[in-house]
Amino acid sequence: MIQENAKCISVKKLTPEIYQLTFRSSKIAKIAKPGQFINLKVDNTLYPLLRRPFSISDIVGANVSIIFNVVGEGTKRLAKKVKNDLIDIIGPCGNSFPIKELNKNTFVYLVAGGLGVAPFPFLIRKFSAKQKFITILGARNRNYILKDGLKNILISTDDGSVGLKGNVIDLIRKSISTSNNKDSVIFACGPTPMIKAVSEFAMKNGITVYASLECDMACGIGLCQGCNIEMNNLTSKYELVCKNGPIFNLENIKF
Ligand SMILES: Cc1cc2nc3c(=O)[nH]c(=O)nc-3n(C[C@H](O)[C@H](O)[C@H](O)COP(=O)(O)OP(=O)(O)OC[C@H]3O[C@@H](n4cnc5c(N)ncnc54)[C@H](O)[C@@H]3O)c2cc1C
Ligand code: FES
Repeated sequence: MIQENAKCISVKKLTPEIYQLTFRSSKIAKIAKPGQFINLKVDNTLYPLLRRPFSISDIVGANVSIIFNVVGEGTKRLAKKVKNDLIDIIGPCGNSFPIKELNKNTFVYLVAGGLGVAPFPFLIRKFSAKQKFITILGARNRNYILKDGLKNILISTDDGSVGLKGNVIDLIRKSISTSNNKDSVIFACGPTPMIKAVSEFAMKNGITVYASLECDMACGIGLCQGCNIEMNNLTSKYELVCKNGPIFNLENIKF
């Protein structure tokens, strides 16, 4: 894990709600894997005191990007960063989606809810050229749909402003019923209610889900024990989202 003051390259508004911040870090770019996150200090003031975690969204050369929407003070200040500002960043943190363990015939459903689309452009970049997959995006409305860096996209929105009027479960059900993929896995990222719904659907259909879980983090590096999550497995009762995750096989999670 590296800590450095990384230079901001740009902040762009990609949709009316979603920003992309790109910074330069050849060290993080070199070792990061899809699904990992960075933990950044928005500035040098005492508030916000804690670092904020963001999935690595894409990496091109030494340029590392994250995407976010403004929900509080931290993201409000991030949206105002300008070129050459220095940002204190720790990363890459946590584990990654198990793309190296995929069999050559495994079909991957990438399922994203809203800003949960964040890790997928980098992940798709790391897929082998032969990897079979589709990307299922669900969001409140068209302002939260971001297609940059994605491929093979199906969309659902709550208000029907783009794609199917419905949710990601409707789309997964539809695409599974019309496919003949025998060996499938779901990689998911999004709000906890969506992750729970995906988990229930997958369990009924015998599909394994690896999901990036969100939670409030204080230290982000395994020291404060503040991000623990209850497990179903025999080896450990609790694990840390920041250190053992954020990617978990949902069979092992007690929601
Ligand atoms: C592993 C991990 C990866 C993450 N990756 C991303 C990412 O790629 N992009 C991204 O935008 N966010 C991501 N998040 C969430 C992000 O860290 C928080 O949105 C961020 O900390 C908000 O900081 P803030 O100071 O702006 O808001 P805060 O002051 O921390 O919160 C302000 C208000 O917004 C609420 N809030 C905080 N986060 C969210 C949220 N995600 N959705 C809805 N309401 C929220 C709080 O409960 C509070 O009421 C990730 C979180 C984790 C744990
Ligand atoms: S956030 Fe401190 S241990 Fe995970």
